[in-house]
Formats: sequence, structure tokens, C-alpha cells
Amino acid sequence: MRLLENNIQSYDFYIEKENMHDEIAKGLAAPVKTISSKFLYDHRGSELFEMITELEEYYPTRTERSIFNDKIQEITLAVGDVQTLIEYGSGSSNKIKALLHHFTSLKEYVPIDISRDFLFQSSLELAMQFPHITIKAVCGDYTAPLTLPLEPSGKKVIFFPGSTIGNFEPVDVRNFLMKSAQLLDEGDGFLIGVDTKKDLHTLESAYDDKKGVTAAFNLNLLTRMNRELGANFNEEQFEHLAYYNVEKGRIEMHLESQCDQQVIIGEHEFSFREGETIHTENSYKYSIDEFQTMALECGFRPSKVWTDVEEKFSVHYLEK
Ligand code: SAH
Ligand code: AVI
Repeated sequence: MRLLENNIQSYDFYIEKENMHDEIAKGLAAPVKTISSKFLYDHRGSELFEMITELEEYYPTRTERSIFNDKIQEITLAVGDVQTLIEYGSGSSNKIKALLHHFTSLKEYVPIDISRDFLFQSSLELAMQFPHITIKAVCGDYTAPLTLPLEPSGKKVIFFPGSTIGNFEPVDVRNFLMKSAQLLDEGDGFLIGVDTKKDLHTLESAYDDKKGVTAAFNLNLLTRMNRELGANFNEEQFEHLAYYNVEKGRIEMHLESQCDQQVIIGEHEFSFREGETIHTENSYKYSIDEFQTMALECGFRPSKVWTDVEEKFSVHYLEK
């Protein structure tokens, strides 16, 4: 643990380079080449994601923010006298910034993110803005076992906005919800943003914008592997691909090889056929019923749900 400011502590469980190499090499050796979406977020990846949130086509951030604005009184009431707020995938912490003024009983905020510099930078800014709140910034993979530095008493609420839960496989959503329920006591809560199913055009344009920012976000993974793992991907020889898989209820993001080629990562060599892809992200969409049913099966009582008028996005408050 390191003390960065009077009211901020940092905990570093950053993924070691060898582990990143091994996980990626394993995914590329599989029959369908796959890399976990968590590797999209180096510092540049986090910057590009922030740019995505500003795009006209990317409705989730804007819509979720409007729900937080419009329903703030009801949300504040549901959250009650929260003392500890834990945020998974906090990124820029922009969303919590808008809510913190309303959670007046809050004593500690625990943001958890894999993008180290980005996390510590945004936590420092937040610490200066909210000197009465203790910030415990945890850098690590929230899908791995993590021991969180939490105070033993007081009401706890987990915050997981942005539909980042959609980047999990449905079976992993269940495990994650059950693991989260174990962190909480009776009466504690989970405030979570979930993207809904909608028409194909809206969904596909959100992940394939005209300015090419999402393409840059996806392709940055290759640049990251070249820099950090000494790989020799030629970014020009891959293209961003995003489409909605109706049967599975998810947007799939891929990097498509534009020719037959070989790529070296460390001591491993991988062959790509023209048109073969690396599957880099899934973004599942859930109807309100689908999500509430899952939450109920995993130890939560779906107590409130808020949406925009078009039901483009949902914000759920679940109670343990
Ligand atoms: N909550 C913000 C950011 C969402 S982007 C918003 O709603 O706008 C997803 C965030 O989750 C990124 O900051 C990324 O670094 C983080 N992330 C993705 N996978 C992760 C993992 N396995 N463990 C920890 N953080 C992860
Ligand atoms: C972080 N996550 C919820 C985003 C999403 O919509 O799945 C990541 C993203 N990928 C492409 N655009 C945005």
C-alpha cells in the first residue's frame, strides 16, 4: 500500500508481463483466436475509450448519464446512508464524480481498474476534489481473486456503470454477481448499468463509428502487444470488425487479418489466414427481465430499475 495524498492510498496488483504474454499466447493458439477485452486498456486504450464515450453513435454513456441526472433523487434514496462505495472498472471515475455530491454519508471510495496510470491519475484528481473521502485505488484484474481493503462496518454499495458487465460471458456474470454478493452484508446494494437489446443499426453503429475511434481502440491492442510483448503485428494488415450476433444477443468485436501472414510474439509464431479474425470483445445486451432474473438467481433482490424513455439503457439497484 502506498500513500499518494492525505486521503488516498494505492494498492497495486498489476498483471505481470509474463502472465499477459502467457494468457495472450494461449488465446491465439486456440482454434478460434481470442484475446480478453481487458487487454484493450493500456493508457492509450483508456484514452481512446474516453473518446468513444463522446461519439454521437455511442449512446450508452450519454444515456446512462441522463438516467443518473433524471433519477438522482430516487437513486440517492435507494443507496441510503452508504459509507463504502466500491467501483469496478472505474476508468476516468467521471460517472461517480457526478454522484459523490449526493452521497453525503460516504466515507470511502474504492475504485478498481486494470489500467494503472489512468486509475491513479483519476483517483488523485478525485482525492483533491473530495478531501473528506478516503480513496483506496486498487489496480488489478477484478475477475481474479482480489482482497479489497474495506472497512469492516457501515453500509457498502458496489457501483458498476457503463454496461461493463456486458463484456463478461453470461456464465461469468453469474460467478461475478455471486462473488460480489459475498463481499456484501444484508441490506448492502449493487448499482449497475446494463445496456438493453435494440435495433441492429443503433447497435452496430455504436461499435463502428464514422470517425474510426472504435477501430483505433481495437487496433491499439496490436500496438500494445508490439510494445509490451515484443510482437511484430503489422497494424496495416488487420481491420476492425464489429457486428451484432442476434442469436447470442451480443456485439462482437474482431480484428480481421487482411492477408495470409505469420506473427511472432516472443518465442511463439502464429499463422493467420486472410479473413481469419482475433475475437477481442463481446458486449452482451440484456432485457430488464433477463438481467433481473440473473441477479435474483445470484443472491440479489432487484429492488429498483430506472431507464430513459426509449429504454435504450437500464440502471438497476440490487439489494443483498
Ligand atoms: N466505468 C467507466 C469505464 C468503462 S470502460 C464508464 O462507465 O465509462 C471499462 C473499464 O474497465 C476500463 O477502465 C478498463 O480498464 C476496466 N477493466 C476492463 N476489464 C477489467 C478487468 N478485468 N479488471 C479490472 N478493470 C478492468
Ligand atoms: C466498457 N464497455 C462496456 C464498452 C462496451 O460498450 O462494450 C467497451 C467498448 N468497446 C467498444 N466500444 C466500447
